[in-house]
Amino acid sequence: MAEQKIPGDGVVTGYGTINGRLVFVFSQDFTVFGGSLSEAHAEKICKIMDQAMNVGAPVIGLNDSGGARIQDGVASLAGYAEVFQRNVLASGVVPQVSLIMGPCAGGAVYSPAMTDFIFMVKDSSYMFVTGPDVVKTVTHETVTQEELGGAVTHTTRSGVADLAFENDVEALLELRRFIDFLPSSNHAPAAARKASDPRDRDEPSLDTLVPANPNKPYDMKELIGKVVDNGDFFELQPNYAGNILIGFARMEGATIGIVANQPMVLAGCLDIDSARKGARFVRFCDCFNIPIVTFVDVPGFLPGTAQEYGAIIKHGAKLLFAFAEATVPKVTLITRKAYGGAYDVMSSKHLRGDVNFAWPSAEIAVMGPKGAVEIIFRADLTDATAIEARAQEYREKFANPFVAASRGFIDDVIQPATTRRRLCRALHMLRGKRLENPWKKHDNIPL
Ligand code: HXC
Repeated sequence: MAEQKIPGDGVVTGYGTINGRLVFVFSQDFTVFGGSLSEAHAEKICKIMDQAMNVGAPVIGLNDSGGARIQDGVASLAGYAEVFQRNVLASGVVPQVSLIMGPCAGGAVYSPAMTDFIFMVKDSSYMFVTGPDVVKTVTHETVTQEELGGAVTHTTRSGVADLAFENDVEALLELRRFIDFLPSSNHAPAAARKASDPRDRDEPSLDTLVPANPNKPYDMKELIGKVVDNGDFFELQPNYAGNILIGFARMEGATIGIVANQPMVLAGCLDIDSARKGARFVRFCDCFNIPIVTFVDVPGFLPGTAQEYGAIIKHGAKLLFAFAEATVPKVTLITRKAYGGAYDVMSSKHLRGDVNFAWPSAEIAVMGPKGAVEIIFRADLTDATAIEARAQEYREKFANPFVAASRGFIDDVIQPATTRRRLCRALHMLRGKRLENPWKKHDNIPL
C-alpha cells in the first residue's frame, strides 16, 4: 500500500449549486480500490459534512464503494464511524440524500441507511452488508448481486431504497428535481417556487371520483394529481407498500409532503410496511418544516397472523407516533373510509390535525357497517333481512362525516370539486404556525 499513492484517494468532494441552491457532494470512484474508504477518504467526506452543517445545506452522496478499505484495517473502520457519527448529527439538521451508483457493501450501505433518502440505478447499483461471495461461504446460498441487493430488490422487497432509475443520467436529473422540493436545512424557510397553477382551480371530475359502491377501489393518485400544483407529484417508494402513498408536491408554490391511503392496494389497509414507510416520511417532513397533507381512505389495520407475529402493534404505532409528535401544519381530508384506530392514526383532529376536511362520501366510525352489525346484533344473524336493515340503520347513523363534524372533529364537509382551493386556503392560513412539544432530550419512538 505504501507504494500505491493515488491523488484524491477514491473520492471527489466539494460544493456547488442545484438551480441556484447550495449543496455539498461527495462522489466515490470505484476505480480506486473499489471506491473503498480509507482514513483520508473518510476525512474528506467528514470535512464537507461539517461544512454543510455549519452553513445549512444538503449533503448528497454518490456512493460507489466496497466499504471499509481492507488494507487500512482499523483506521478505515474508524473513518467510517466518523462518517456515521456525522450522519446521525446531521439527521434532522440538513437533508442527506444518497444515490447508489455502483456496488456498495459494508459501511457503504450503513452510511446511506442513515441518510434521509436512498436512490439507486437499475442494473448497475447494489447494496448489501456482505456480498454474494461471503453469503456463499457462510450460508451456502448462491445468489447474484442483483438478487441480493439490486435496485429492484430494494425498491420492491426490502424497502431500503426510495426510487430506482433506469440509468445514471436519469438518476442525476431526478435527484436535482428532487432537491428542489427540499429546504436547505431545518432553519431555512420552506422550499418554494413561483406558482403558475391558480389556487382556486376547481376540479369537477373529483365529484365523481369515489364510486357509489363502497367496496370498489379508485386511484388515490388521481386525486393527488388533480389537486397539487400542475399535477407534479414526486412519489417515493411507489413499488413498496403500495397501500400508502408518500411524496412531495407543491401548493401555491410551497412544498408539501403527502401521505395518502391507496384503496387500489389491500383496500388501503394499514400494515407493517405501510406504517413504517409512512412514519419515516412524516418524521422527515416534521424535521424540515414541510406541511403534511393527508388523504384518508382506510378501512383499518390489516388483520392476520402474519401481521400480528410481525409486530404490527409496534410498527403501526410508529405511524401514530410520527403523526402525533409532528408540529408542522397538518391538513387532512377524508375522502371515504376512516374506520377504527386507523381513523385516529391518519392525522386526525385528536393528533393535533390543524384543519380536517371530509368529503360528503366520508364514513367515519369504529368499524364498517357489516362488522359492527354482526357484533352488536349477533342474535339476529340468521335473519338476513334484519341484518341488512340494521346495517342500513348503522350507515345512516354513523357511516357519514356529519357525526364527527357535529363534534368538531371535522372542520368542514367540502364539495370534492373545491378540494384544491380549500387545501390552499388552509395551508396559507397555517404558514405562520408555531407549535412546540414539551422539552425532552429526544423521544422514544417504538423501533
Ligand atoms: C479494498 C477493495 C474493497 C475493499 C473491493 N476492493 N472492495 N479493496 N477494500 N473493501 C477492490 C478489489 O480488490 C478490486 O481490486 C476492486 O476493488 C474491484 O473489486 P471487485 O471485487 O473486482 O469488483 P466486483 O466484482 O464488482 O465486486 C464489488 C464488491 C466486492 C461486491 C464490492 O469487491 C466486495 O465484496 N468487496 C468487499 C466488501 C466488503 O466486505 N467490505 C468491507 C465491509 S466492512 P483490483 O485491484 O482487483 O481491481 C465495513 C465496515 C463498516 O465496511 C462498518 C459497518 C457497520
